Amino acid sequence: MTMTITTTPFADQKPGTSGLRKKVRVFQQTHYAENFVQSVFDVLADYVGQTLVVGGDGRFLNRDVIQTIIRMAAANGFGRVLVGLGGILSTPAASNVIRKQGAFGGLILSASHNPGGPDEDFGIKYNIGNGGPAPEKMTDAIYARSKVIDRYFTVQGPDVDLDRLGETQMAGMTVSVIDPVADYAKLMEQLFDFGAIRALIADGFSISFDAMHAVTGPYALEILERRLGAPAGTVVNGTPLPDFGGLNPDPNMVHAHDLFERMFGPDAPDFGAASDGDGDRNLILGRNIFVTPSDSLAALAANAHLAPGYAQGLKGIARSMPTSGAADRVAHALGLPLYETPTGWKFFGNLLDAGLVTICGEESAGTGSDHVREKDGLWAVLLWLNILAVRRESVEAIMAAHWARFGRNYYARHDYEGVDIVAAERLVSELRAALPRLPVRTTHGLTVAEADEFEYLDPVDGSRSQGQGLRLRFEGGARIVFRLSGTGTSGATLRIYLERYEGPEGVLDLETAAALADLAAVADAIAGIVRYTGRDGPTVIM
Ligand code: G6P
Ligand code: ZN
Repeated sequence: MTMTITTTPFADQKPGTSGLRKKVRVFQQTHYAENFVQSVFDVLADYVGQTLVVGGDGRFLNRDVIQTIIRMAAANGFGRVLVGLGGILSTPAASNVIRKQGAFGGLILSASHNPGGPDEDFGIKYNIGNGGPAPEKMTDAIYARSKVIDRYFTVQGPDVDLDRLGETQMAGMTVSVIDPVADYAKLMEQLFDFGAIRALIADGFSISFDAMHAVTGPYALEILERRLGAPAGTVVNGTPLPDFGGLNPDPNMVHAHDLFERMFGPDAPDFGAASDGDGDRNLILGRNIFVTPSDSLAALAANAHLAPGYAQGLKGIARSMPTSGAADRVAHALGLPLYETPTGWKFFGNLLDAGLVTICGEESAGTGSDHVREKDGLWAVLLWLNILAVRRESVEAIMAAHWARFGRNYYARHDYEGVDIVAAERLVSELRAALPRLPVRTTHGLTVAEADEFEYLDPVDGSRSQGQGLRLRFEGGARIVFRLSGTGTSGATLRIYLERYEGPEGVLDLETAAALADLAAVADAIAGIVRYTGRDGPTVIM
């Protein structure tokens, strides 16, 4: 029996770069999750009798909110809910299930790479029928709805047993608990030459994959160890834990520190990789080399034809604006179109749906293709392995050859985390106001050629997104981008993206920090980072 529950709105349910992310304590307020879920349902139309996919990265609150969603889906008239066993579905696997099962959409529960646990983060994101994140138009409508919502619908009934595969009924709706890995593993087998990768591994090629106690554990164990024959122990931290073992499931130098030590240590394996909380990010390392996400996108695009799923070549490449121009060089050389979008995977959806691009990537450790509508951590790992299996060269050799052909975009992102919001916004607004005066000012020997604020006109649906980052372009091609993160849950995070291009004939083996030292100084001189943030350096350098 459907119950109508009276509620009052919360003012803070505005979805950010990737859905609604808040502290667990915020989500634990009475009606908080319910309000948001009902706001999503209220802006959808024609879903009665349709299928909703539900799953998450296993973090604290995952199971509770799944039960809430199942009850509300039944009360709102969905015909079926597909939920991953144990409440688990990686973000790319959820995207695949939505597409493959012809679902109306899905709710993915995750705060991605943010920490989990009672004092940490949780999140809810709605994905549409193409398997990708809801577009801005829809997230704006959800937010608007959440500000006036006064009731939600639910049903009474026992919890669904999430730990047993199979079907149950709830108030006329079917709930199917599905294997979260099977469909996804099958898709990977279609895209990549598993035989070649198996042969590479059988010849002694060693891999270390750090699942960071997050959602990719079961996927990586099945694919890398079972199907590709990598020895036991290849996957480390392979059991998803509600608090990720107290660590941040963020595959970067700071949080995947152990993996970095291993890959730069005396007995380094040939290949190292990690993924984040919900399995959409990737970190790629070779023996003694870290491949930046921007370089990884470029190298994958240049070599994708070596994998069966991409043998016919690419239609185009897309990258977010702050991502380095390394992929542009590849696109240019291969005669492919290159699209530059705002930060956020949702902006790739239209380009992929319209068949304009095949591969997309972001500096924030996201790479993916038209196989789903999310970025996909294990996909990137498997494409790398497929390329390595065909070329039979080291990661280091592949990157050296790449730079020798296309040149090298030295690149780093400096993050100032937990900055006072007012100070961060003031820095940005002052810099915005100064943009017209910056060309052709010279600081530390670098002359600003152009200064603007990035805005995007979606070539498919004509929508416009403004205020997407402040850009300084320097004579000689260097670039600095400033933007505030849209995914944090406490304070502001200021991101500064530094980039300098060196052509194929230039110096290709500098230390990144040394190559970018001048630019970092220029960024501070122009924007007053130290002055505004009160910090003498970034919290994290990626
Ligand atoms: C999430 C999104 C990405 C985005 C990243 C960084 O992972 O899915 O598309 O690039 O966050 O966003 P931020 O706003 O924190 O820089
Ligand atoms: Zn993620």
